[in-house]
Amino acid sequence: MKNKKVDIRRFKKYLVPYIPRFIAAMLCMGLFSLMNLVSLWFIKNGIDGIFMKQEVHFFGFTFSSLDMLTLAVAAVPVIFALKGLGSYGRSYLLNYIGQNIIRTLRIELYDKLISLSHDFYVRNSSAKMMSRVTNDLGAMQNALVKVPPSLLMDGLTFIFMIGTVFYLNWKFALVTFVGFPVAAIPLIIFSRKIRRASKEGQIQMAEIYSSLHQMLNGFSVIKAFNTEEHEHNRFKNDNNKFYHIALRVIRVDARSSPIMEFMGAAAGAAILFLGGRDVINGVWSTGAFVTFLGAVFQMYQPIKNFANVNSQIQAALASSERVFEVLDEQPSIKNEIAAAPLKPFSESIVYKDVDFGYLPDKDIIKNLNLTINYGETAAFVGHSGSGKTTIANILLRFYDPRKGRVLIDGQDIKFVTLESLRSQVGIVTQDVMLFDDTVKYNIAYGSFGASDEDIIKAAKNANAHDFISKLPQGYDTPVGERGLKLSGGEKQRISIARAMLKNPPILVLDEATSALDSESEKLVQSAIDNLMKDRTVILIAHRLATVRNASKIIVMDRGEIAEAGSHAELMGRENGIYRKLNQLQGI
Ligand SMILES: Nc1ncnc2c1ncn2[C@@H]1O[C@H](COP(=O)(O)OP(=O)(O)OP(=O)(O)O)[C@@H](O)[C@H]1O
Ligand SMILES: [Mg+2]
Repeated sequence: MKNKKVDIRRFKKYLVPYIPRFIAAMLCMGLFSLMNLVSLWFIKNGIDGIFMKQEVHFFGFTFSSLDMLTLAVAAVPVIFALKGLGSYGRSYLLNYIGQNIIRTLRIELYDKLISLSHDFYVRNSSAKMMSRVTNDLGAMQNALVKVPPSLLMDGLTFIFMIGTVFYLNWKFALVTFVGFPVAAIPLIIFSRKIRRASKEGQIQMAEIYSSLHQMLNGFSVIKAFNTEEHEHNRFKNDNNKFYHIALRVIRVDARSSPIMEFMGAAAGAAILFLGGRDVINGVWSTGAFVTFLGAVFQMYQPIKNFANVNSQIQAALASSERVFEVLDEQPSIKNEIAAAPLKPFSESIVYKDVDFGYLPDKDIIKNLNLTINYGETAAFVGHSGSGKTTIANILLRFYDPRKGRVLIDGQDIKFVTLESLRSQVGIVTQDVMLFDDTVKYNIAYGSFGASDEDIIKAAKNANAHDFISKLPQGYDTPVGERGLKLSGGEKQRISIARAMLKNPPILVLDEATSALDSESEKLVQSAIDNLMKDRTVILIAHRLATVRNASKIIVMDRGEIAEAGSHAELMGRENGIYRKLNQLQGI
């Protein structure tokens, strides 16, 4: 992914809808501050009035001690109720805005990740993408909620103090202004450093996710190979790296506030030097001078505070770069503008002069020309890595050919809608993907409207009904994460039932039986035979016994068709690869 700075204007779309609520939050904040002031007034005048028995004068009114007592008793609950309301309103509204923006971004990210094509995940690991949805959005959310109130408070204080300073002595105020650009320099430098380090931190956090994901996925292998310590060290390494980056951020961050303070003091000293002479010479009164100096110090306070929230802002900006980077990705495979739905399959699948490679400089499929007629079973055999699965991937448009076309009934699949293409192709592979839900859900996956009757019928045809019925909750039994609670053959039959229910005219079977023992292979094989009935099938298999009856056997060799024909034809070739492979497998 390209690394580019995020344009602040991109946030506009997310922020604008919440402007009214933001204003309301600020009003709540104002109410809170006002009530604070009022309660201070009460503390001072209440003490004077009630306990010191003094009369309190306020806007021409005079309050006796008893008046003050009554007033205090009546007002204190009201003040605190209003203060509480302001505090609640501010927190709730700001969090409401933050959560809403993050919710929008989260679903946008999810939709983007689901829309991207296979090639994106060849380049980017899924665990790292997970860290963008969780960790990077978390950093953004943190800043969205915490930064606005402090920026606003400090901004207001700053403006107020500038006014005061100018009011007190505008000439000297101008002098102090020279200090601000100087104060901005370290802030800018720190911001850059923090942003860079935050980004490194987020990248490293993604490594931690990746490490964790691998451990959880490879749990059995780790146990079986006694590699706990190896994995521990790997994780420790990643964890330590993150720790060091985090400390680096802290070091820069913790430095910025004292430096701002120092700058403020330096400005104070400069004023002391210049103004002190005026005081000595009697041009400026001592009181006015001290007030001015105090105001200048207070003016630096908001800048100092800004330096404090700055690291949150920078971390959020670094994260938003990573979030927008994903949002800017475009799927390489998508519906062309003029894409029409693929008509129901009835004639042939044709690969015409197809070249393809996963990586730019390496061809995996070279000049493939092939016709599979309606109703035929085309079996692909050949060495591992010769490109069999790749041919199926191209038919499903998981990837587009670099050159050449694939035609179904004469329609180039690049110009039909992806939905219509994929709805006509079913796929059963060796490693079955089951979702962490019930058996029923997994069979009906992709055909969600299916009736129970149809689901059971599909399961029966897939030789799965018997074992499902014996499960503790039958069709409602959860299969566990990735179908962990089922055997390989059982999972396989569920995936066959799923394909059966989808009932597509074209079927891709990729090594569907190779991982099974002979008992369950028999069950799966007969389920597959049921599934293949009345369909056009692309059958990929290492075990040649399973392809014998195919109408056409295609022998692949390094991305090219080495031989093609029926079993009998290919066996008849003296030095044929197919014949040799058969001899090797002892058939
Ligand atoms: N996602 C990928 N990115 C890069 N290269 C890939 C990718 N998938 C497969 N390849 C490469 O493409 C070649 C063909 O792979 P393919 O999966 O089509 O082989 P296959 O004939 O199905 O092998 P097998 O019989 O082992 O399943 C292999 O050399 C493989 O390394
Ligand atoms: Mg394969």
